[in-house]
Amino acid sequence: MASVPSLASSVNQRVADALASALPEAGGADPLLRRSDRADFQANGILALAKKAKANPRELATTVVEGIPTGELIQEIEVSGPGFLNITVADRAIISTLAARAADDRLGVPLNASAGTTVIDYAQPNVAKEMHVGHLRSAVIGAAMVEILEFTGEKVVRRHHIGDWGTQFGMLIQYLLEHPHELDHKSGDGDEQASGEEAMSNLNRLYKASRALFDSDEEFKTRARARVVDLQAGEPETLALWQRFVDESKIYFYSVFNKLDMDIQDPDVVGESGYNDMLVETCKLLEESGVAVRSNGALCVFFEDVKGPDGNPTPLIVQKSDGGFGYAATDLSAIRDRVTNLGATELIYVVDARQSLHFKMVFETARRAGWLNDGVKAVQLAFGTVLGKDGKPFKTREGETVRLVDLLDEAVDRATAVVREKAEKVGLTEAEIVENGQYVGIGAVKYADLSTSAARDYKFDLDQMVSLNGDTSVYLQYAYARIRSILRRAGDRKPVAHPELELAPAERALGLHLDGFGELIAEAAADHAPHKVAAYLYQLSSLFTTFYDQCPVVKPEPELVVGENRLFLCELTARTLSKGMSLLGIRTPEKL
Ligand code: ARG
Repeated sequence: MASVPSLASSVNQRVADALASALPEAGGADPLLRRSDRADFQANGILALAKKAKANPRELATTVVEGIPTGELIQEIEVSGPGFLNITVADRAIISTLAARAADDRLGVPLNASAGTTVIDYAQPNVAKEMHVGHLRSAVIGAAMVEILEFTGEKVVRRHHIGDWGTQFGMLIQYLLEHPHELDHKSGDGDEQASGEEAMSNLNRLYKASRALFDSDEEFKTRARARVVDLQAGEPETLALWQRFVDESKIYFYSVFNKLDMDIQDPDVVGESGYNDMLVETCKLLEESGVAVRSNGALCVFFEDVKGPDGNPTPLIVQKSDGGFGYAATDLSAIRDRVTNLGATELIYVVDARQSLHFKMVFETARRAGWLNDGVKAVQLAFGTVLGKDGKPFKTREGETVRLVDLLDEAVDRATAVVREKAEKVGLTEAEIVENGQYVGIGAVKYADLSTSAARDYKFDLDQMVSLNGDTSVYLQYAYARIRSILRRAGDRKPVAHPELELAPAERALGLHLDGFGELIAEAAADHAPHKVAAYLYQLSSLFTTFYDQCPVVKPEPELVVGENRLFLCELTARTLSKGMSLLGIRTPEKL
């Protein structure tokens, strides 16, 4: 495991050193190196620094250039415009650096020196309820963040804060008590998908029936309310029935996560109920410290800047006037647990933007109470709404929320058709067609979600998602498979890096982009921005396409060393693509 400094960082260091000797008072200043169209890099920072030091920017730039030797690393450096630097790196430096990356199984990507512990709250569906596209977003974005952070060396603790507690369970449990066989499985054939479906349909039926009774039968309503009290008091029979709902729901959740090709582990599923024992103390601490006050019997936290439409302050209600605890009390207790017991230095909540006010108030309350301090960052990685083709929140024609499983099945069906079209040419077996159909279909759904920044809404458009042209996962998967096929067809020729060669423009462009992978990862991790990984990979595929068009790899057969070096670029591109895609939770089949 050897981390490889990128060319950008090495060049930046050279320029920074020369800048520090040319203008000592600017010591340590960042020359602001960027990729550029005119040369490989442009340094834009000198202008501002010169102005600040009341020096002539062009003169300062010239002195800096004189202080930088050209050779192994920098081939050419010149002043441009009012005081920018245009920098071209040596071909040799590009291939040597890439060779060092290729020799490392992390592709030379450095570990974050100041890594800490992140607790990430994602993939949190609700017990006894169907999963919808909102849960899809949380799961997909959260899983990508987990992978990206872990790749940088962060310790990541996953928390699936499922909705498994609350007053609705009184009604459900009471109904099950009175109709004991409603959750029994009939098929029992052990097929995970089938049991998942059956579990959900049992829960649905039970939910509807108990709701109907609750709304129509006053006596049932009274019994259901009493059941909530029993549940909160931990009465064993009530708890056992509650557990059946949770278990049944988990069968369903896991079947969906499995379809999503996501690995969710049972110990990480710590739902709202998991904090039940802390709620009383959380309220006590808040009330004693004066962070929360009683208002009309409820325990409330008030905020200067949070007001309702009537201009009156809208508080965060930690405990209702009837003594019941809600969503906020649970989230506040979860913060205490995650900071104190799990040692979190960062808390990330991958939750719908429509819950932003809740998190703003919860975080602020936790700060006032001292549970969050300067050593702990808390952020909501808020995501936007999934829209239908009509640009309105995604609903069925009947106006109901779309079932996630139906969407995933349709995506896989469409993708399988796309895969099948080319299957003969590529030589895929029926089993491979089915498997690739899953990888392509699920990849398409994930990529569509991850390729726009999380905060934005996006349209769920399957036609676009499985299209072979454009910014889709299928396009990237095909690029990967194509490279693998090139490598197979190369026969005896092997990928070998040859730093002594002069590079064509398309080779340099591809090489420099490959070299930027580590910086991209650091940025995506720090900004909580998986979409940057997607954008990087898309650009990588485009650069590869240009390279492959302009630089023959296999046919017409180039000179031996040139061919080997190009195969080397192919192989590193494939590895980088596959690594990046795996961070996004997307598979890259070898043949497609
Ligand atoms: N179960 C909630 C929902 O479906 C999301 C939970 C988010 N996490 C949290 N700690 N509040 O909307």
